Amino acid sequence: MSSKTSKRQQPIQRPKGTQDIFLSEMAHWHAIEQAASRFFDSAGYSEIRTPAFESTELFKRGVGEDTDIVNKEMYTFEKGDRSLTLRPEGTAGVVRAFIEQGLHRQPKPVKFFYLGPMFRYERPQAGRQRQFHQFGVEVFGIEGPAADAEVIQLAMKLFETLGLPNLALEMNNIGNSESRLRFRQEFCKRIEPVLGQLCATCQTRFQNNPFRMLDCKNPACQEAYNEPETANFLESEWTSEASQAHYAQVVSILDHLNIPYKRNHRLVRGLDYYNATVFEITSTHLGAQNAVCGGGRYDSLVEQLGGPPTPGVGWALGMERLVSLIEHKAVAGLDYYIVTDQHAHALELAEKLRLQGKRTEVDLTGRGFGKQLATANKRKAQYAIILGELEVASGVLEIKTLDSGEQVKQALTDFLKN
Ligand code: HAM
Repeated sequence: MSSKTSKRQQPIQRPKGTQDIFLSEMAHWHAIEQAASRFFDSAGYSEIRTPAFESTELFKRGVGEDTDIVNKEMYTFEKGDRSLTLRPEGTAGVVRAFIEQGLHRQPKPVKFFYLGPMFRYERPQAGRQRQFHQFGVEVFGIEGPAADAEVIQLAMKLFETLGLPNLALEMNNIGNSESRLRFRQEFCKRIEPVLGQLCATCQTRFQNNPFRMLDCKNPACQEAYNEPETANFLESEWTSEASQAHYAQVVSILDHLNIPYKRNHRLVRGLDYYNATVFEITSTHLGAQNAVCGGGRYDSLVEQLGGPPTPGVGWALGMERLVSLIEHKAVAGLDYYIVTDQHAHALELAEKLRLQGKRTEVDLTGRGFGKQLATANKRKAQYAIILGELEVASGVLEIKTLDSGEQVKQALTDFLKN
């Protein structure tokens, strides 16, 4: 066929929700992979690589039949008479290997890290792909709170090593299966009268997995869960005494390690294997999908998948979300942008902040504060410090978080202590 008559072929596009990673972005991936592997190797964790597909039954039994992941998001296919699934997460496969390879006979604890692609058929949006990558860790064989504290400590330190010291740690205690029954009874009793006003998803979850209703972002549902009687129950300690004691010990170790955290009574996570401690590490720079890392304790999972009773705890971080935070930081650079018409005081404050390692710039233009704030936004600073005549006289600064627009007042002396 002559080139004149040949029709140009349609180019083939990559599937929706997937990415090509190359050139400068690849450098971030290599840096994270190497830093994370080295870091966990130095803490006595060894790498495990498990298959990218497993038998479907593993995720049904492991992640839970009533979860969105198993119900709607799995890439499942038949080969011969087998049903196989591209792994939607890493924990179930690591637990399967732990049992199948007889690793429960190794001296405890057995500590692994892993890295690889995961697959979930979700609606793609910023920070949510159908193929994404996780770096994760799992610790087997330790029932006590030290293991929960260690994995959290290592996650926070890893982020610090990667230049991200200001991520928020949210924690919750979701008790054991008996606590969950109690939750079901008490929560459903309070919600049943208004069930008709809730969204279709929450109505289904009410039957199958009421715990997951707390995740709903629908305003009508949130309003129902914020009704004082329901909210009070959610904020109460409805879990078993043993898990409350466990949780108290975990956070007391975190206090000792100076790791700040916030209790979030509504943090329930999207996988069914958790008990007692659950946590997420979030960033305000990630938009709606704000969790860069999530995990918790799963003391029944090994047994549920056919192994001997063995407690476990771990987490996984989303590589794409982590890379976007690191890129954001590389572009942003600045921690503080000082919006001011009091230059002498501003230059003095900037010097103190720089001595604390904070990247700080002072607006020298003398323009109106609105224009200076616009520049602070353009420079992608994390915070704007407003330092006008009033603030100098009172010794109280206005600090604006530029992403959320949230503005707080803080005494200069306290601010410099942080
Ligand atoms: P997960 O919260 O489902 O937990 O996922 C962990 C992290 O993977 C999330 O915080 C997020 O950063 C990233 N991630 C999840 N889904 C997507 C997506 N569709 N697109 C981009 N990133 C995503 C687990 O997977 C558990 N296996 C963690 C764990 C390990 N728990 C105990 N051990």
